[in-house]
Amino acid sequence: MRILGIESSCDETAAAIVKDGKDLLASSILSSSQLHKQFGGVVPEVAAREHTMAIVPAVQTVLDEAHMELADIDGIAVTEGPGLLGALLVGMTFAKALAVALQKPLVGVHHLEAHLYANALVEPIEFPALALLVSGGHTSLFYWEKHGSLRLLGETRDDAAGEAFDKGARILGLSYPGGPEIEKLAQAADETELLVLPVAQLGRDSLDFSFSGVKTATQDLYRKHPQQKANIARALQEAVLKALVNTVARAQKQLGVQQIYLAGGVTANGRLREVFEDFGRRTGVAVHIPPPIYCTDNAAMVGALGYWELQSGRLLDKYATPRTPYNLG
Ligand code: KG4
Ligand code: ZN
Repeated sequence: MRILGIESSCDETAAAIVKDGKDLLASSILSSSQLHKQFGGVVPEVAAREHTMAIVPAVQTVLDEAHMELADIDGIAVTEGPGLLGALLVGMTFAKALAVALQKPLVGVHHLEAHLYANALVEPIEFPALALLVSGGHTSLFYWEKHGSLRLLGETRDDAAGEAFDKGARILGLSYPGGPEIEKLAQAADETELLVLPVAQLGRDSLDFSFSGVKTATQDLYRKHPQQKANIARALQEAVLKALVNTVARAQKQLGVQQIYLAGGVTANGRLREVFEDFGRRTGVAVHIPPPIYCTDNAAMVGALGYWELQSGRLLDKYATPRTPYNLG
C-alpha cells in the first residue's frame, strides 16, 4: 500500500511516498526557514504563503522520484494538527482536493505522533515502549502500548526543550532555529572552563519537565560571563539533555519497559544521541532515534503513520478542518 504523506504544520512543506508504513520511496522537504530568520521565529502568514507555492512542486518531486503517477497512490495522509492554522490549512485543503479528485482514501495524522513514526522507517516498532517527543513546541513522555495507543506520562510545565534552545540562542545572539546553533557553538567550548546550569527537579517521582528556569539562568550566566558564549551554550545543552535523560531513566525504572523511542526536532542533536546511547549501554535498554534528516519536520513520518491510520479506518471527509490545539494521549 503506497501512501502519499503531506506535512505543512510549520515552516516545512513536505511530501513523501511510503510503502506499507515502512519503506520510504521518495521524500521532498522544502523549507521557508531562511525567510523567518530575520524575525527570530516563524511568521505564520509568511509560512502559509510559502506552503501555497511549494506544495505542488513537493508532491511532483516525490512522484517523479518514485516513478509514479497520482493514480498509483493507494491513499493520502495529511497532518491535521497541531501547528499553525494557516499553514495546516494549505496542506489539508490540498490533500482533501486531491483525495476527492482521485477518489482515494484520506486520513489525518497527529503531527507529534507522526514524529514517532520516523522510527518505523528504520525498523518495526517494538511494543510496549516509552516514547519521548522533544520538539520546538512540545516535550512529552508517553507509554506506547501499541499502534494508536499512547498514554501521556509527563510533559513540560512551561517551555519545551526546543524552545529552551531557541530562547537560549536568542540570548546569546544566535539565529533561529536555535538548537543547531547551540549545538555548533557548544562544540567550540573550552575543555578546562566548565560552566554548569541548573536543571529543574520536579519531585522524586515526577515525570514532568520544566525548562523556563534554565532560560533565566542562561541570561544571568551570560551577563556574568559575556566572553564565554561557547561554554554557556554547552552548559545549556548539557542541562536540557540531563533533564531529558534523567526523566526517561525514572520512567523506565517505574514501568520496566525495554524499548525507548525518541523523536522530534531536538533529537537531531548529536550530543543528545551520545547521552541516550550511553544510557542504553549502561542499562541494556534499546534506545531508538531516527536518522537526523527525519528528526525535524518531514512527510515520510506522515506517510508511515498514515498506513496505520488507514488500517484503523478513520477516514477524513471533505469538511475536515485543522485540529489545533490537538492533544495526544
Ligand atoms: O520537530 P520540529 O522540527 O518542529 C516542531 O514540531 O516544533 O522541532 C523544531 C525544534 C526547534 O526548537 C529547534 O531548535 C530544535 O527542534 N532543533 C534542535 C536541533 N535541530 C533542531 N535542537 C537541538 N539540537 C539540534 N541539532
Ligand atoms: Zn515537528
